[in-house]
Amino acid sequence: MRYLIFIFLLYSSSLSAQQVQFKTAAFKTGDDPKWADQNFDDKDWGTIKTNAYWENQGYDKYDGFAWYRIHFIIPSSLKEQAVLKENIEIFLGSIDDADITFLNGVEIGRTGRMPENPDGYKSGGRLNERHYIIKADLPSLHWDRDNVIAIRVYDNGGNGGMYLENEGIRFWDPVNYIKMEAYNAPFMIGEKTVSKKVSFQNQYSQILKGTLVTTIKTDDKVIRSFQQNVELNHGETFVNVEDMPRIDAATVSFVFTESLQNAILQSVQEIPYILTPKEKNTPQINNASLVGTKPNVPFLLKIAVTGERPISFSAKQLPKGLKLDAVTGIITGQVELEGEYSFTISAKNIAGKDEKKISLLIGNDKVLLTPPMGWNSWNCWGLAVSDERVKASSNAMINSGLINHGWSYMNIDDGWESEKRAADGNIEANNKFPDMKLLGDYLHSRGLKFGIYSSPGTTTCGGFLGSYQHEEQDVKTYAAWGVDYLKYDLCSYRKLYQTPPGIPQLQAPYLVMNEALKRSGRNIVYSLCEYGMGEVWKWGNQVGGNVWRTTGDITDNWNSLKTIGFSQEIPSSYNSNHYGFGDPDMLIVGYVGWGDHLHITKLSASEQYTHISLWSLLSAPLMLGCDLSKMDAFTYNLLSNDEVLAIDQDALGKGPKKYEIEKDLQIWVKDLADGNKAIGIFNLSESSVKKTINLKEIGMNEQYKIRDLWRQKNLAAGNKFETVIPVHGVLLLKITK
Ligand code: GLA
Repeated sequence: MRYLIFIFLLYSSSLSAQQVQFKTAAFKTGDDPKWADQNFDDKDWGTIKTNAYWENQGYDKYDGFAWYRIHFIIPSSLKEQAVLKENIEIFLGSIDDADITFLNGVEIGRTGRMPENPDGYKSGGRLNERHYIIKADLPSLHWDRDNVIAIRVYDNGGNGGMYLENEGIRFWDPVNYIKMEAYNAPFMIGEKTVSKKVSFQNQYSQILKGTLVTTIKTDDKVIRSFQQNVELNHGETFVNVEDMPRIDAATVSFVFTESLQNAILQSVQEIPYILTPKEKNTPQINNASLVGTKPNVPFLLKIAVTGERPISFSAKQLPKGLKLDAVTGIITGQVELEGEYSFTISAKNIAGKDEKKISLLIGNDKVLLTPPMGWNSWNCWGLAVSDERVKASSNAMINSGLINHGWSYMNIDDGWESEKRAADGNIEANNKFPDMKLLGDYLHSRGLKFGIYSSPGTTTCGGFLGSYQHEEQDVKTYAAWGVDYLKYDLCSYRKLYQTPPGIPQLQAPYLVMNEALKRSGRNIVYSLCEYGMGEVWKWGNQVGGNVWRTTGDITDNWNSLKTIGFSQEIPSSYNSNHYGFGDPDMLIVGYVGWGDHLHITKLSASEQYTHISLWSLLSAPLMLGCDLSKMDAFTYNLLSNDEVLAIDQDALGKGPKKYEIEKDLQIWVKDLADGNKAIGIFNLSESSVKKTINLKEIGMNEQYKIRDLWRQKNLAAGNKFETVIPVHGVLLLKITK
C-alpha cells in the first residue's frame, strides 16, 4: 500500500533558471550608514560566503553589527525572457538575527529587532526567510550595469549572518503571484464529514487563471476527484471549502495548475482521524499519582477531573498545612515536615463519583516527580508574547477542558523582559506585561502554575536582558511574582567561554542559578536549556535541574520531529522520578508560528499521534506550544486522552528501550510503575504498514492483556496481533501480564 502523502510542495521558492545568483559578498563588522551607498568603496573589505554563518568563516563569537555588500549586474535579457515583468524577488535566505537591506542606497526591506527598534520582533527574526519584492521599474535598479545590495545585519548572540543556499534575484513567474494558504485553518471535523479550507489569492495586477483539482484517496483508491476552473482578478481570493466523507487514513490533495506556464501549487494532507473516545459524564480524576514539593513553601495542586459539572471535591488524610477548596478543587497551603505522605481525593457529580490516592513526597529534592505538563509561549508567539496572549491561552486551557486532563503550567518564554534593569538593578517586564505579580495571582487563582524564562548570559537568545551577575536578585523578583518554573537558556553565555567548554564550564552557570533557586522560598521547577551539550542528561540533576533540553529547537515538520524524537533513547534512559527528565523540546501541535502570524501545524494527524505517543513513552515534559484560544476538535481530542497521558505521567518516570524490528518500523518499550509495559509501534516509512506483530520478537514471551491506548479498547489477549499503521503513525499499547 502506498500513499502519496504529507508533502507540501509550493512552487519551488529556490531560484528558477532566470536568475542572478549570489554566492559571496564583501563583508565588514561594525556599523556605518555610509556603507549603504552604492558608490562606497568596499575594496579593502573581506569576502564572505552568503550561505553560512560568519562564525564559520573567521568571525567566531562575533555578535553585533556587520554589513554585507553584494555587487551584481542584472541583464535586460532577463526582463525580455520573463513571462510577467512586474515583480522581482530578492531572496537573501535567512539572516540571524535582524537586517535592513538597501538596493543602491534605497531601503527595500527589513526584518527583525534592531537595537534602535526593540519592537522589530513583530516582523520576525532569525528563522524567517527574506524574500524582498521590488518592482522591475524601480528607478534605483540599474539594468546591465553594477548594482549593490547592502545588508545591515545585527546579531544579538550565538550564530550570526546570512545562512541559507540559493540566494539571488529572479523575476516572479505567474504562479508566484498566487498565494496559496493551506494551513490557515484546521480541518473541521463533523459527525460524518470533514471540511478543509484552502484559499488562493492573486497578487498580480491583472487577471490570472488556473484549474484546481481536488482528490481524496485511500491507499491507491481514488474516492473522489474533481476539477474547478479558477479565474482571479487582482487582489481577489478564491476560497475552497471541501466537505469530505470522514474516512480514516485518507488523504486529500489540492493541485492548482496556473494556465500561462502550467506550473503547479499543491498541498497533500492526511485527513485527520479521531481516536480518543468521548469523555464520560461520570467524574474521572486524572492527576498523576505521585506529587512532590519542597517543605515550607507554597503548594498548589488543582484536582484534574473530567465529568459533568458541577463537581464537588473532598479529600481524606490531607497532610497538615494543606486545605482543599471543595468548589474549585484547588489544594493550597504548605507542609512543614519532610516525609512521605499520602491522601485520597474524590470528585462527585450527579452521575457518580471517583477517588484517587496521591502520594505526596516532601523534601528539598522533590520539586518535580513526574514530567511537567502545560504550555509555553515560544512555539506560538515567539518574541511577540504578551500578557493578553498568556491570559487568552490560560482561559482557553480552562474553558477548553484541557486543565481537566492535568495540563497546568503556563510558561512565558523569551520576550517578556524590559530593555534595562531598574535603578536598583531589578529585572522588570516590558510594556507587554503590565503587572507580573497580578498575572501570577491570576493563574494561581485558577489552579494554573506560572513559568518564566531567562538566560545565564547578559542577553537571552532573543536579545533581551539575561540574569548574568543578577541571579540572586532575579530569583527574588520571580519569587515575589509567584513563579513556579524557570527555563534557563544558555544563549549569550556561550560568548563567555574562552575555549570550547568542558563539563565544568557548562555546569558553572547552572550551579549559580541553582543556589539562588534553593533560597527562593518557592517550589520552582528548574529547566535547563543548553541544547544537550556535554550530554547534559548525565549531570542535569547534579546542577539542580529537574528538566533539561536534550536537543536544538524543534519545528513543525516531520523531519524535525523524527530527527529529534527518535534519537532520544540514550538521553531518556537517565530519566526517573527522583532524577529528572530529558526534554526533547516543546510540542508542535495546534496553531504555531514563532511570532505574530500563526498557522495550523504542518504535521499530519498520524505524525501528531506519533509525537504525543513518543513524548509520553519518553517521560518527556509535555509543553504545548500553540495558541490555545484557537483550539480545534482534532487538537483537543489529541491532547485529552487520559490513558495516553498516564503513560507520560507514570510514577516511575522512566525512558523506553528501542527495538528496530525492521527498517523504519520501531518498537519502543517503557516499564511502568504497576509492573506492566507501554509499547509504541512506530511506522517511520512513507507507506502504511500491515503486519503481524509478535511480541516474542522483543523478548515478551508470555500471554498478555493488550490494550490500544488511543482507542481505549482491548485487543484479543495473547502475544501476537495483526495491525495496520498509517504512514508516520503509531499503535500505542499497554501490555499487562
Ligand atoms: C532558544 C531556545 C528556544 C527559545 C528561544 C527563545 O532558541 O532553544 O526554546 O527559548 O531560545 O529566544
